[in-house]
Amino acid sequence: MNSKRFSTLVLAAGKGSRMKSSLPKVLHKACGRSLLEHVLAVAEAAGATNHYVVVGHGRELVLEELGRSRRTFVEVWQKEQKGTGHAALMALPLLRQEDDLLLIVNGDGPLLTPESIQAILAAHGKYDLTLGVMELENPTGYGRVLAGKSGALQKIVEEKEASDKERKVRLVNGGLYVVSRRFLVEALPKLKASGKTGEIYLTDIVAYGVAKKKKLQSFRLDAEELLGVNDFSQLAAAEAVLRKRLCQGWMRDGVRVEVPEALWAEMSVACEPGVVLGPGVVLKGLTRLGAGVVVEAGAVLIDAQVEAGAVVKAYSHLEGAVVRKGAQVGPFARLRPGADIGPEARIGNFVEIKNASLGKGSKVNHLSYVGDAEIGQGVNIGCGFVACNYDGVNKHKTFIKDDAFVGSSVNAVAPITIGKGAYVATGSTINRDVPEGALAIARSKQENKEGYAARLRSRMQSKKGK
Ligand code: UD1
Ligand code: CA
Repeated sequence: MNSKRFSTLVLAAGKGSRMKSSLPKVLHKACGRSLLEHVLAVAEAAGATNHYVVVGHGRELVLEELGRSRRTFVEVWQKEQKGTGHAALMALPLLRQEDDLLLIVNGDGPLLTPESIQAILAAHGKYDLTLGVMELENPTGYGRVLAGKSGALQKIVEEKEASDKERKVRLVNGGLYVVSRRFLVEALPKLKASGKTGEIYLTDIVAYGVAKKKKLQSFRLDAEELLGVNDFSQLAAAEAVLRKRLCQGWMRDGVRVEVPEALWAEMSVACEPGVVLGPGVVLKGLTRLGAGVVVEAGAVLIDAQVEAGAVVKAYSHLEGAVVRKGAQVGPFARLRPGADIGPEARIGNFVEIKNASLGKGSKVNHLSYVGDAEIGQGVNIGCGFVACNYDGVNKHKTFIKDDAFVGSSVNAVAPITIGKGAYVATGSTINRDVPEGALAIARSKQENKEGYAARLRSRMQSKKGK
């Protein structure tokens, strides 16, 4: 984007006490990304030169999170949170030579877009301050923007300080300021703490500027973009908007989202064209869906990689798993970390797979547990198979080679290998390797006692009578 050079100053030191949470407010997540991360990502996309982040409450946690996201930023430490004006003041000594123009944003506004930042910067021109404002049906909680008859800015009154009449004003401060460094350096040290709250309000910079005959203007933005998150209800509202944007972007890119209002997805997820997402699907983390993947109703995918043409049927739960081309999983399947389902393979209902790979075309269709295993190609595992991988101390591995057939209700006591093309009879508990091509039967012999059923029943009846 070609526009003015500017740097961002994000105010993120506040406690956010209305959330009653041990987590600093700006670390709460919307669509899988912290509020602060949203703000920084937008500022970066808009082309900011430097990022300054004011931290204070929960400083270590915030710095840790910023470190994880590998962002380049300058920390501004506001040891005591004495208000937004005080927060901005703390940044002044740290600003660099090139930071002539600053975009100050609240760290709790995740819905801003790079386009709007560009627009407000373009409108700024030679003004000393341009204030991002919005008009709200219900302005509760926001600072009210008071303007003279000509529309010129007069001052911002915080809700706590406002008279009943002032509270009726529906034009509010969106917590977004484009301001020259010169004006900041002059004004911030002069702002006085509120007699009511003891805080220094950044918003008082407007009244200061008016008194000093500075050039100030307001710039209207879409109310949706300037939502500030102070409580969980606003967090949910912000998340709904982000989710809507994410869905719309996907649909533009050729993803069929069957019920957009009922999709829960994080920003970090990627879908290729032709993906179909059913109602109530949850997509989190580094989930990747290849071309034409179908994810049916209610499936939950966390850090899952599903390759082209695979199908995840309803109500399956996948975490840290890979599903290769054309495979089918579910309904009601559970793939845990390390599950790797080969091309064209089939995983059916009530099957749990953990740290195990299945080769091409292999099938585990019903009610089984496969943990710590390597299963070759063309293997068929019957209903109710258990890889007994854990002896209470150590985990052991099961190997099932290509084209083996494992009957129903088989327990494989690991470590164990079932050879290529071998056959394990239904109901066997096997604890020794099965050689290639062999048949293993490990179950007690059946005995039929002719006519015994009636005698047995009458004995039980007489017992019941006692
Ligand atoms: C603020 C504005 C209000 C505006 C609204 C827009 C002030 C005084 N009020 O109110 O006019 O309508 O945003 O959303 O600025 N912070 C610090 N240090 C502090 C206090 C706060 O860094 O000492 C940070 C917070 O972490 C937060 C941001 O500043 O990210 C705004 O603080 P918050 O308490 O949310 O202000 P609001 O009451 O929402
Ligand atoms: Ca706020």
